[in-house]
Amino acid sequence: MKHQKIRKAILPVAGFGTRFLPATKAQPKEMLPLVDTPVIQHLVEEAVNSGIEQIVFVTGRSKRALEDHFDSHYELESLLAEKGKEEALQEVQKLTNMAEFFFVRQKQPQGNGDAILTAKNFVGDEPCAVLFGDDLVDAERPALRQLIDVYEEYRDPVIALTSVPHEHVSKYGIVEGNQVADRVTQLANFREKPEPSETESSQAVIGKYIITPEFFEKLEQMKGSVEGELGMDHAINAMMNERPLYGLEVEGTRYDCGDKLGYIQATVDYALKHEKIGEGVRDYLKSLNLD
Ligand code: G1P
Repeated sequence: MKHQKIRKAILPVAGFGTRFLPATKAQPKEMLPLVDTPVIQHLVEEAVNSGIEQIVFVTGRSKRALEDHFDSHYELESLLAEKGKEEALQEVQKLTNMAEFFFVRQKQPQGNGDAILTAKNFVGDEPCAVLFGDDLVDAERPALRQLIDVYEEYRDPVIALTSVPHEHVSKYGIVEGNQVADRVTQLANFREKPEPSETESSQAVIGKYIITPEFFEKLEQMKGSVEGELGMDHAINAMMNERPLYGLEVEGTRYDCGDKLGYIQATVDYALKHEKIGEGVRDYLKSLNLD
């Protein structure tokens, strides 16, 4: 098989965001901002800074704000130009040109594997990236770039991992396997949300993957036959018997923006780093005199 560059990314964004209700009743959870930048924009920037050229969002009901966010806004742009607000104008305009954007709709929320399958025709016969909306990694080298580098070495699917406290394994997909290089594990087993007593591993899957076209075949074969929702775990376990799959413990600070505490931690850290308000935020936090 010829070796293809990873140029496409699937961003599944069809979930209801029930953990953030009522904020997410009428707006996508992916549009919740870290200070001034929606979580989804951070993911798109991660993809683009990793070499991705085309992005397909798998959307659903009440997700129109996402489409608008990455589209041009003629009236706003002319207003900003008229008022000489050059910096804001550039911020708005850069969104449209970062990548080529496509949208497909997942008809019903039937699991993250089903969401990926919805993008099959867009991806075609090439490897691609998958980024789920909740996991942000703040890193010098984008987390997705780190995965692509491992893919380019092994030419097999790669999944992002992070170490979690063992008592938290039941919140994650947990993998077991053999370490083959620094931070790289060849996967032998994937379990979705095991009890701490069921595994010795604390290596958790986070929502960033490089997948190959066989993933779609596997998901297609399994659709309808699995009980409940079709998950990535089904395809991963099925493929593990046929070709090597790798996990990479990514470098950087990971935030779970799908969780209220994780979202607030991300907000505080991004606010502290913000070039305009960082200092003010630091002074404010100090003034709280928390022990
Ligand atoms: C999903 C995946 C799980 C993964 C987690 C990472 O679970 O099913 O394998 O570890 O995301 O955030 P969810 O958090 O949607 O329940």
